[in-house]
Amino acid sequence: MTKNIGVLISGTGTNLQSIIDKKSKGVLSANIAVVISNNENAYGLIIAKNKNIPTHVVPHKDFTTREEHEKKIIDILKGYNVDLVVLAGYMRILTKFFISHYPEKIINIHPALLPSFRGVDAQRQAVEYGVKISGATVHFVDEKVDHGPIIIQGAVPVSPQDKRDDLAQRILNIEHRILPQAIQWICEGRIKIQGTKVILINKNKPKADIKDIMPCLINPQLEEGF
Ligand code: GAR
Repeated sequence: MTKNIGVLISGTGTNLQSIIDKKSKGVLSANIAVVISNNENAYGLIIAKNKNIPTHVVPHKDFTTREEHEKKIIDILKGYNVDLVVLAGYMRILTKFFISHYPEKIINIHPALLPSFRGVDAQRQAVEYGVKISGATVHFVDEKVDHGPIIIQGAVPVSPQDKRDDLAQRILNIEHRILPQAIQWICEGRIKIQGTKVILINKNKPKADIKDIMPCLINPQLEEGF
């Protein structure tokens, strides 16, 4: 049966756009049931409205406690029979209260290779640290911030010349591919959580061999002979 997803956003909504695009392309089977933003000016709301996806604005400043704010969002999600909550650039930390309503049914996209650079502006953290490789992570949400079983990660090189926005754009290009893919795997029932690990059940082969996956990313490039 088609799964209903509820997408939570706070800003531009390019990840939401990527989900919509994969749905239009026919590779994503999820029904985008509702988009909820805590920010009334989020451009993602316009993206959703243009596609006739129901939208709700629930500004956190209208509530005294986090739980009251979350209760309002949960009520909306329940109203749309949401099976999976997708945090696509949602810039609020969820409490135990929210998570207990959707155990193992909330996923988040984070612009870093977790567990590195958790928290705000992970791209700036990576540039300032001087890492040579960063990337994006889609993970199930648990009670710790930017933490929980990892479904998929994508890596990108980082150059010493990169500004924060250069890296952010490079990472976004990966985000737009891995987030819809993770959603589709969940929709197909191919994701199993085993403790801290996530197992992807392959469609055709019983088990993926790590050697068959892809060459590793090394940055800067190795010179001949190494
Ligand atoms: C994305 O880079 C996403 O990974 C990040 O916010 C951006 C939202 O972009 N999320 C976080 O930092 C959450 N910790 P978008 O609104 O264009 O999808």
